[in-house]
Amino acid sequence: MAEIYVEPFRPGQEMLVAQIHNASFDEWARKLGEAYAYRKVMPQEVLDWSQKPSNTIWLAYLNGVPAGYIHCRVEEIRGRRKFLHLLYELTDRDMGQSKIAVVPRYRGRGVGKALLRTTLEYFKDRGVEIATAYAYDDNEAASALLSSLGFRHEEIFYYEDYSQQEPFAFDSIYAELDLSKPLKDVRLNPDVKVRTPREEDLDALIRIFGECSPWVYGPKPSAKEVLSWLHNSRAKVTLVAEYRGETVGAMEFFKDGRIGIPGVLPEHRRKGIGTTLFYHLLKEMQRHGLVKAVVDTGIILRDAIRMYHRLGFHIARRRWAWIKLM
Ligand SMILES: CC(C)(COP(=O)(O)OP(=O)(O)OC[C@H]1O[C@@H](n2cnc3c(N)ncnc32)[C@H](O)[C@@H]1OP(=O)(O)O)[C@@H](O)C(=O)NCCC(=O)NCCS
Repeated sequence: MAEIYVEPFRPGQEMLVAQIHNASFDEWARKLGEAYAYRKVMPQEVLDWSQKPSNTIWLAYLNGVPAGYIHCRVEEIRGRRKFLHLLYELTDRDMGQSKIAVVPRYRGRGVGKALLRTTLEYFKDRGVEIATAYAYDDNEAASALLSSLGFRHEEIFYYEDYSQQEPFAFDSIYAELDLSKPLKDVRLNPDVKVRTPREEDLDALIRIFGECSPWVYGPKPSAKEVLSWLHNSRAKVTLVAEYRGETVGAMEFFKDGRIGIPGVLPEHRRKGIGTTLFYHLLKEMQRHGLVKAVVDTGIILRDAIRMYHRLGFHIARRRWAWIKLM
């Protein structure tokens, strides 16, 4: 019988974890391509993860050989009451899946299950009430593993103790557009001027991030945070929408074809401003020679999904939210 042993990570094992990670997610990196943000991790990054507060990494050995790892974080949630949540950390903030990884040659032998079970039991004993993991809808191994330990896929999940209005967790969709074809004709708002941002847009950009994408820098971003986003050295193009002299929206793209949408200010929605800005962003991507555009969004953001459809995007995949009540 195979013997499986799980232990917490110790500094010095970062190279091992990086190797397991890179071998385990390699199939996803190849299957999905660059736009889905899988990349090789370096040992130093693993060490950085392990040193973040409340983060833990666990290693599994099969017959004495390192075979898998898991990375999770416990957070205190202040909802309608306080409770502890266990999150299986993601390979990338926007596009990734949970870091539950077994190297291909040791799969199907209970290693994934042992890692998951060990962490669930350990954190349940320390008061965690709810655990969340994320995986793409076509990840059959992850679906089998998570459901075998009592996780349920919930498209939109409300947790009473968190909030009655706001969902606690939800699926995301990933939509793609073939940029080698002409863009669809859409109705553009003629009062919108699309241009690259300038320093004097800073106050407007702070509002846009704070009100439209509070999950990036919180509801009140600092000037420093937004300036660092603006001057981010990663190759990208950012465009803003100016409507009757006021800067009201921002969008960007990266050289791998990913699109980021800080948003359009709430009082200026439903005027075709987002669609106009999005159309010009896609045109710019074509001018840069990109052949595929990828956007992601939470399933609850219906307006964003409608906008993607309007411009001819198709939903390529979903990322499922898996919930376990302890
Ligand atoms: C998902 C993953 C961690 C599973 O690890 P594993 O060690 O092979 O899983 P286990 O052997 O512990 O299997 C657990 C259960 O899932 C089932 N299972 C595992 N792989 C499966 C597959 N490809 N198809 C169907 N069922 C599968 C097993 O039969 C077992 O079910 P049982 O308890 O009813 O017998 C592994 O496939 C992996 O590393 N994949 C790449 C990275 C990834 O996608 N991570 C998950 C993100 S959430």
